[in-house]
Amino acid sequence: MAYSIDLTNRTAVVTGAGRGIGQAIAKKLAGAGANIAVIELKEEFTLETVQALTEMGVKAKGYAGDVSNLAEMQALMEQIQSDFGSLDILINNAGITKDTLLIRMGEDEWDAVLRVNLKGAFNCTKAVARIMMKQRFGRIVNMASIVGIIGNAGQANYSASKGGLIALTKTTAKELASRGVTANAIAPGFIKTKMTEVLSDEIKAKMLEMVALKQFGEPEDIANAALFFCSDLASYVTGQVLVVDGGMVM
Ligand SMILES: NC(=O)c1ccc[n+]([C@@H]2O[C@H](COP(=O)([O-])OP(=O)(O)OC[C@H]3O[C@@H](n4cnc5c(N)ncnc54)[C@H](O)[C@@H]3O)[C@@H](O)[C@H]2O)c1
Repeated sequence: MAYSIDLTNRTAVVTGAGRGIGQAIAKKLAGAGANIAVIELKEEFTLETVQALTEMGVKAKGYAGDVSNLAEMQALMEQIQSDFGSLDILINNAGITKDTLLIRMGEDEWDAVLRVNLKGAFNCTKAVARIMMKQRFGRIVNMASIVGIIGNAGQANYSASKGGLIALTKTTAKELASRGVTANAIAPGFIKTKMTEVLSDEIKAKMLEMVALKQFGEPEDIANAALFFCSDLASYVTGQVLVVDGGMVM
């Protein structure tokens, strides 16, 4: 018998879903029937995604907010629960880079990246934890990176934030498991988005050499992994890191 993944009547919050990987995840979850709350730095950044989701026939709404602000995230998650009637899935996807060698890296560059990538995920997780524990169901997916596993020259701040995110994922999984809430991480390799577009051709060529499948990933490759973690197929999977990188890290 053929079977399908059904997320009808589930509400998913996707941070940084205005473009790139977050947008692809929002569309993928909507394709399975989920209603989607899009969080972005500015409301105008949410418009394109919300329009696409609405055209797919699900309920979708954009919210302006900065994931690094705990009070803002707590108020937003309550608002989303009230607007949608439930809050079942959280995708901690918002992230930034400020690359430079460690000896040149300023305190501000370190703080900015850790604040968004790591504290942002903590803030959103804390803001949804009570809601999910109470309803005895939840799916949390954190967007890490392979550099959080293997490190990367020029990314002391970013790799530390992603390594920290993997540890946060495992702790969240342990603390919330008894209430039916799972937490998993995805570690993408090189995915074609605006974040990686800015890298030099030289760096891109070097990266491509490391990819066993000899092509860069698409945002949809990551969205497929997110859909798996949010589906019933993964109900016995928690605290895991799924590397989606075409075979860079083995
Ligand atoms: N592209 C890759 O190759 C790659 C590889 C590994 C991991 N990742 C991770 O995947 C995630 C998405 O990356 P992407 O390539 O789609 O990047 P992107 O820059 O295209 O999208 C990131 C989105 O996050 C939003 N955002 C940034 N700071 C925010 C904040 N404080 N609050 C709310 N929203 C905020 C941005 O406005 C943007 O729309 C990031 O966490 C990134 O670190 C990407």
